[in-house]
Parts: sequence; C-alpha cells; structure tokens
Amino acid sequence: MRESAIGVAIWGAGWVASGHIKAFVANPGCRVVAVGSLREESCRALLAPYSLDAAIYTDFERLLDDPGVDAVAICTPNQLHAAETVKAAGAGKHLLIEKPVALSLEELRAAQEAVRASGVTTVAGFVVRWTPLIQSLKQIVAQDDLGRLFMANAAYWSYRANRPDFQRARATAGSPWLVGGAHAIDAIRYVSGLEVAEVSAFAAPVGAEYGYEYDCAHAATVRWNNGAVGTFTTTIVGHTPYQFDLDLVGTRGAARNKRLYLDRLPSEAEFFELPVAGQDSSDVVQHAFGGEIDHFIDCIRTGRRSHVDLDEAAIDHEICFALDQSARDHRPVSLPLA
Ligand SMILES: NC(=O)c1ccc[n+]([C@@H]2O[C@H](COP(=O)([O-])OP(=O)(O)OC[C@H]3O[C@@H](n4cnc5c(N)ncnc54)[C@H](OP(=O)(O)O)[C@@H]3O)[C@@H](O)[C@H]2O)c1
Repeated sequence: MRESAIGVAIWGAGWVASGHIKAFVANPGCRVVAVGSLREESCRALLAPYSLDAAIYTDFERLLDDPGVDAVAICTPNQLHAAETVKAAGAGKHLLIEKPVALSLEELRAAQEAVRASGVTTVAGFVVRWTPLIQSLKQIVAQDDLGRLFMANAAYWSYRANRPDFQRARATAGSPWLVGGAHAIDAIRYVSGLEVAEVSAFAAPVGAEYGYEYDCAHAATVRWNNGAVGTFTTTIVGHTPYQFDLDLVGTRGAARNKRLYLDRLPSEAEFFELPVAGQDSSDVVQHAFGGEIDHFIDCIRTGRRSHVDLDEAAIDHEICFALDQSARDHRPVSLPLA
C-alpha cells in the first residue's frame, strides 16, 4: 500500500475534465499536480475554481516528463485516446482513459499491449458503473433475484445540441455507439454478467440534418452467451430527452431500470420502484465521477486490478466495432472479434 499522495495530471481541459478535477480534488489520496491541453487558457479556466499549485502544459511529452506526475486522466477528443495511452503507459503513468478508449481494433490492441508491457493501472471512463441504480441492479442479479436471465436490453438516447465538433466527424467520433451507446452496453454487461455472442445491427439515415457526418441512430438484436436474447438501441440526435434504459427478464423476476418485479415478493401485482438515483442525465455534473476516481486512486494505491480496466473496456469496444461492422455489411457479426 502506497502512503504518499499520488500526483495526478489531467490532459484535455474541457467539459469532462471539469467532472474529473472536482473528484480528484475531493480525494485525499491524490494531488492534482498538472493540467494540460491545447490552449493554456483552457487549463487556467479548469483550475480557476480551485486553489491548486498545478503546472500547466500544452505538450503531452513535457507533461509525461514531469516527475511529479504518477497518473494521467486522458480527457481529450476520442481519436487521441489510444495513441496517448500508448505514450503514457510507455512513460510508466497510471491511466484513467475516457471512453471511447480507441476507434479501431488495431488502435485498441496497440493500447492494450502498451499497458500490459508497462504494468500500469488503468480504469476506462465507464462512470455509469458507479451510479447507485447500476450498483443496486448488479447486486440484485448477483443474489439471483431474477433467476436465469433470458432477455437483456440496453438503450442510450442522448441529443446534445452543443456536442463538440470532433463528435460529429466520423474520423474523430467513430460512431454513435462509440460516442455514447457504449455506456449502456458496458452497464448491461456489468449488471447481467453476460457476454455478447452475436449482434445484427441496422443504422437509420439520420444525422446530416444535425451536422453529423454519419448515421446517428442504430438498433441491434443481440444473442448473449447463455442463449438469452436482447436489443441495443442508441441515438445521439432527435427530439427526445436523455434516456438510459436497461431491461432484464429472468425466470424469477424482471427489472426495467428502477422498476422491479420479483417472484420472492408474491404480493406485488405491479412493478415497484427502487428508491435510488439512476443514470438520468448526460450532464457531467451529475455523473458519478467521485466513485470512479476514488476507485482509480484505490487501485493505484493497493495494486488491485480494476473491474473496468482497459482489457475489460476492450470487450465493450469490440462489441461497438462489431455493431458498426454489422450495420455496414448488412450481416450478423459474432464475438469476440478475430
Ligand atoms: N464518461 C463520460 O460520461 C463522458 C462524458 C463527457 C465526455 N466524455 C469523453 O471525454 C472526452 C472529451 O470530451 P469533452 O466533452 O470534455 O470535450 P471538450 O469539452 O471539447 O474537451 C476536450 C478538450 O481536449 C482539448 N484538446 C483538443 N485537442 C487536443 C490535443 N490535440 N491535445 C491536447 N488537448 C486537446 C481541448 O482543448 P482546448 O480547450 O485547450 O482547446 C478541450 O479542452 C471525449 O472522448 C468524450 O467521449 C466522457
């Protein structure tokens, strides 16, 4: 167990970084020693609410050369994450990597290899795992309250008019699964303990009218590794409030987000509602960064492997790549990818 405070650098001083810095500052086991971004003014704006003695960098190599930096939170645009992971792992830095961690299978494997070779701790940015509802559902499934699962669905619908430009170009965004839908895929895998065996996906021609280069609404049927069936849907445009929905149906109960129906409570004629906070907003102010970042620091201090390290996140990303491939080629795709 390491005793001294872990020196943290935040790289990419934008929206998500504002959630990260708040959580790092609140954790007594670490100290924010550096912030970096394209522009110094973004770093200064990120630091403004805090009285921190943090260095400012606009060059990633110089940030990595800082001997006070033990860990880096990668908060830059999507297309940079994998290459930055390779560099930072090579420099021996522990990594909190925002999702998507990579935009292609080749990039993903290179990042995994670099992390394996260096032995650094990684946590991928699937912050929804720390939402109270997700933790409750995981426990409900783990104690077998739903019985044998035979259906598991996940949906992520989120339109933000002010999404940054890099999320609108195919080369820097990836796809709607990689922009947002991956959160729901990760959550249903985490809660259910199931793995995806095969997907068959379709894309709707919507996106250009919102300024996106790619189709922004996709739906898929899923075959899980225990024979269960399910659906994944995602849209990052459209006239809809934010929706993050998980459904689980089993031989002894069913869950639709907060609504539960359990065989062990026979008097219940209807679903009853769990009194816990769900994943109800796309706003990073409401994301569970406190839980995620406390976990990251704890993993570094204790040397424990994270339940959402890069290798685990790689499974979510392979599913996203398979969904994109399926929609593109109009055929089912089996997992894991070769
Ligand atoms: N886990 C979650 O729930 C969640 C939520 C939101 C976002 N995210 C992820 O976080 C990442 C960032 O998203 P965001 O919404 O925070 O975007 P954002 O507000 O645009 O912030 C991105 C930051 O990266 C900086 N940057 C851009 N290019 C750079 C480069 N070449 N080198 C260094 N810095 C660079 C920008 O620079 P300047 O400001 O210095 O010009 C900006 O401050 C995305 O991958 C997104 O998917 C995750």
